[in-house]
Amino acid sequence: MKVIIVKDYEEMSLKAFEVMSEVVKNKPDAVLGLATGSTPIGLYKNMIKDHKENGTSYKQIKTVNLDEYAGLDYSSDQSYVYFMRSNLFDHIDIDLANTNIENGKATDRQKECDRYNALLEVMQQDIQVLGIGSNGHIAFNEPGTPFGSVTHIVDLAESTIKDNSRMFASIDEVPRQAFTMGLKNIMNAKKVLILANGANKAKAVYGLVKGEVTENLPASVLQLHPDCVLVCDEAAASLIK
Ligand code: F6R
Repeated sequence: MKVIIVKDYEEMSLKAFEVMSEVVKNKPDAVLGLATGSTPIGLYKNMIKDHKENGTSYKQIKTVNLDEYAGLDYSSDQSYVYFMRSNLFDHIDIDLANTNIENGKATDRQKECDRYNALLEVMQQDIQVLGIGSNGHIAFNEPGTPFGSVTHIVDLAESTIKDNSRMFASIDEVPRQAFTMGLKNIMNAKKVLILANGANKAKAVYGLVKGEVTENLPASVLQLHPDCVLVCDEAAASLIK
């Protein structure tokens, strides 16, 4: 794993943009695996700025997102499809038909997981962007998720519900279940770019880089990936220095 430690969130976002930019420039029809949450917002801002200032085009780019809350769709401003549109897709020239995310409102949830897995089989990510949960989760693969998992429905951990409640009016409104790509789908990406900032991620970052490879800390599986880059700020890197 390549580890890049930078000063702060701004620098992390800029470095992440450089990594992303190389993929997009080298392959204008690349498949980008994208994440939501606070961590990648700065990366997406840099992509938008570059699109507006330098004309980098996303017309042929395809995307697959990691996860979506079960029960929410694009009409809910807490849904991840809404997040992707407002933080990235609506500000670049991407064709929305080329963007993919699990359908949170699917009535047959297993069928939706099967559809997404079939899609991922034919759309290998040229790069997969990840954040990391304070408990070491990646996407919504909570501790204990098998490394061989593919897209599935999860019961969110209490710590994740608490972490994510800041985005909702109250903790009671946070959905208790989500669709998520599995660890095997993530490991299938050609390149993984994982980002972390803030002191509350320090323990998880330690487990990611220096801990035992264990299903108790899902992100640790990335130690086995042949091309994984971690970009993190000093606060998140405090235990690995
Ligand atoms: C988001 C996702 C999650 C987040 C993680 C960190 O699509 O899959 O695993 O990356 O919960 O969230 P933030 O970035 O809000 O700290």
